[in-house]
Amino acid sequence: MLPAYAAYAMLSLAPILVLGVPPIWTQPEQVHLSYPGVPGSMLVTWTTFNKTESKVEYGVLGGRLFDMAATGSASLFVDSGEEKRKMYIHRVTLTGLKPASAYAYHCGSDAGWSDVFYFTALNDSTSFSPRFALYGDLGNENPQSLARLQKETQLGMYDVILHIGDFAYDLHEDNARIGDEFMRQIQSIAAYVPYMTCPGNHEATYNFSNYRNRFSMPGQTESLWYSWDLGSAHIISLSTEVYFYLMFGQELLFKQYEWLKKDLEEANKPENRAVRPWIITMGHRPMYCSDDDQDDCTKFDSYVRLGRNDTKPPAPGLEDLFYRYGVDLELWAHEHTYERLWPVYGDKVYNGSTEQPYMNPKAPVHIITGSAGCREKIDPFNPNPKEWSAFRSRDYGYTRMQVVNSTHVYLEQVSDDQYGKVIDSIWVVKEKHGFSAWL
Ligand SMILES: *[C@@H]1O[C@H](CO)[C@@H](O)[C@H](O)[C@H]1NC(C)=O
Ligand SMILES: *[C@@H]1O[C@H](CO)[C@@H](O)[C@H](O)[C@H]1NC(C)=O
Ligand SMILES: *[C@@H]1O[C@H](CO)[C@@H](O)[C@H](O)[C@H]1NC(C)=O
Ligand SMILES: *[C@@H]1O[C@H](CO)[C@@H](O)[C@H](O)[C@H]1NC(C)=O
Ligand SMILES: *[C@@H]1O[C@H](CO)[C@@H](O)[C@H](O)[C@H]1NC(C)=O
Ligand SMILES: *[C@@H]1O[C@H](CO)[C@@H](O)[C@H](O)[C@H]1NC(C)=O
Ligand SMILES: [Fe+2]
Repeated sequence: MLPAYAAYAMLSLAPILVLGVPPIWTQPEQVHLSYPGVPGSMLVTWTTFNKTESKVEYGVLGGRLFDMAATGSASLFVDSGEEKRKMYIHRVTLTGLKPASAYAYHCGSDAGWSDVFYFTALNDSTSFSPRFALYGDLGNENPQSLARLQKETQLGMYDVILHIGDFAYDLHEDNARIGDEFMRQIQSIAAYVPYMTCPGNHEATYNFSNYRNRFSMPGQTESLWYSWDLGSAHIISLSTEVYFYLMFGQELLFKQYEWLKKDLEEANKPENRAVRPWIITMGHRPMYCSDDDQDDCTKFDSYVRLGRNDTKPPAPGLEDLFYRYGVDLELWAHEHTYERLWPVYGDKVYNGSTEQPYMNPKAPVHIITGSAGCREKIDPFNPNPKEWSAFRSRDYGYTRMQVVNSTHVYLEQVSDDQYGKVIDSIWVVKEKHGFSAWL
């Protein structure tokens, strides 16, 4: 029998019980990883709808679960839609991880823990040969490549994923519920391998605030531009959108340009280029493409390529900058197709040789991979592409890349329409890197 005071206590709770137990808004969701750029580290980001502490408990896979713990912080993100929906974005950086070791982790707080996930800390050796999946333009609706990417990632086929802009369609829609759903959808990939991003035009609403708040890339630019190293590659992520959304601050365009110049200068110091000879860029809108829409890249004087002269001062483009510093490979998306170019500079082809165009190419190699799948479907091609267009496909799919060693990079295109068939592949081989490689 209940003591009298307990019965009174229950009675006094009755009105609350009648109203119902409040739902749990402290449950972690939308878990994803990114690499902070420091060997032996990994950053875990997730969302809760009520404020909680930010903890990750982890341990070497196969060892004692959760024998290590790290804490971080949460920032309140208020979406700018009508409902002004609030969410807490939690960030915890794990440090001192053993390179190439696998870890199991969960994240959350004593108010709720996520499922258990696992990842492999990136191997920090410059002779490591990292494997990437890359694509842009993946949405909630019609995400054709997603199932294949989920399975291949979980099978351990990739060390890193590069998402080259345009997410969810769009992160801010339905008061950012589409963003929530997209982040839940990619958790099946992004909670297992670092998911590295750059912004695309679909992130522009409310000054890219959903993008800037939801992702956690290295550096101090709220994920807009940054660089990091892996194996023998220096990888630069940039915002092509600074050339188009001048209303969010023309100074961003110039700031990024100056940063790019400094970063490329640093990467080109002989002692740096000797250990990380490959410089690879990723940005959303390409300099060249042969799609049949009126996008920037379909014009000779693309903003991204040549800059703009309607700003004060005129804004420099990126083609000369990248050429001058010997960028080897440029990854783009935005066009909902796949296109591989012969080595190109100034609208002209510079094959290594006619027989082996990618053997010591005399200009950067461009790949456009924006066909992962989204509600906008696939784009049409111009029937008369220019001479720099080497291979084109309108199949849904994505690209695999392996930076094998200091001289060899391998790329291949997977068709989801053709059940995972590899429909294109190249080896880019360079015995020499840097500007002098062009001469
Ligand atoms: C918890 O989150 C829900 C959903 O966002 C919100 O309605 C509620 O006011 C929050 N409660 C507290 C105490 O913050
Ligand atoms: C990292 O990669 C290099 C090159 O493949 C390999 O020799 C080394 O054993 C790897 N490190 C670990 C800890 O597995
Ligand atoms: C847009 O966001 C960027 C990055 O945070 C910021 O520097 C800029 O001032 C913002 N622009 C406007 C108009 O708020
Ligand atoms: C400015 O750029 C446009 C193309 O973007 C070009 O047609 C025009 O000639 C340029 N004007 C000047 C003054 O350079
Ligand atoms: C570049 O190489 C490819 C492949 O051999 C060839 O089809 C193309 O015509 C070459 N382009 C030029 C401009 O030499
Ligand atoms: C790089 O890898 C390629 C392809 O596996 C191989 O043929 C080549 O000998 C390697 N080069 C070096 C410098 O290890
Ligand atoms: Fe786009």
